[in-house]
Amino acid sequence: MTQDELKKAAALAALDYVEDGMIVGVGTGSTVNHFIDGLAAVKERIAGAVSSSEASARRLQAHGIALFDLNDITDLPLYVDGADEIDHGFAMIKGGGGALTREKIVAAVARRFVCICDATKLVSCLGAFPLPVEVVPMARAYVERELALLGGRPMLREGFVTDNGNVIVDVHGLRITEPRQVESEINQITGVVTSGLFARRGADLLLLATPNGVERRI
Ligand code: 5RP
Repeated sequence: MTQDELKKAAALAALDYVEDGMIVGVGTGSTVNHFIDGLAAVKERIAGAVSSSEASARRLQAHGIALFDLNDITDLPLYVDGADEIDHGFAMIKGGGGALTREKIVAAVARRFVCICDATKLVSCLGAFPLPVEVVPMARAYVERELALLGGRPMLREGFVTDNGNVIVDVHGLRITEPRQVESEINQITGVVTSGLFARRGADLLLLATPNGVERRI
C-alpha cells in the first residue's frame, strides 16, 4: 500500500466515531482531506463541522457540509486530525501544514481527539520532524534566538503566512524527551502564538494504518 492509501484507511476508520447529530471538529492536511471526503457521504446525519483551517473549510463547504463558528457552540464531542509525529504517550508534533494554532484551539474544546496516521508517524521520541512554531512577525528574530537556546536550529518557513497572519519558524534538531515541559517553555517565549507540540492536550485515541490494517490504540 502507498502512504496515501494508508492515510485514507486511517481517515475512513475515524468515521466509526461520528455519531448522528454531531458537530465534528475537523483538522487539516492530506490525511484529513480523506476524512472530509468520507464525511461527505454521511453529511445528512451530522449537524455540521468546525474547521481548523481555511483550507479544510473550503473542502467541507465544497461538499455541502455546514460550518459552525467555534464561538457559537458549547460542546464539541469529537475532533479528528492527523499528525506529523506521534509518540507512544500520544503527544504529537503537528503543524506541517501550518494550521497548528487553530488545530490546537479546536482540540482544546473537543472532548475526544482522534488522531489518524499512517504507521510512519509513530515514533519513540518526538523531534526528527522539525517542530513548527507560529510567531508574530515582529518577534521572529527574538523568538529564533530564544528557540536556539533550547538547543534547536530555528528556520523561517519561507513565503508562508498562516491563516492568522503570522509566520512559522520550524525548529530542527530537537530531541524532545519531555514533551509537556518543552511545550510550556516554548509557549512562554514572548511573541510565540503557539507551538506544534501537542503534549498537554494530546490525542485520546490513535487510528494507526499499517499494511495489515488499522490499529485502534487507546
Ligand atoms: C497540519 C497538520 C497535519 O495534521 C500534519 O501536518 C499531518 O499532515 P498530513 O496528514 O498531510 O501528513 O498538523 O497543520
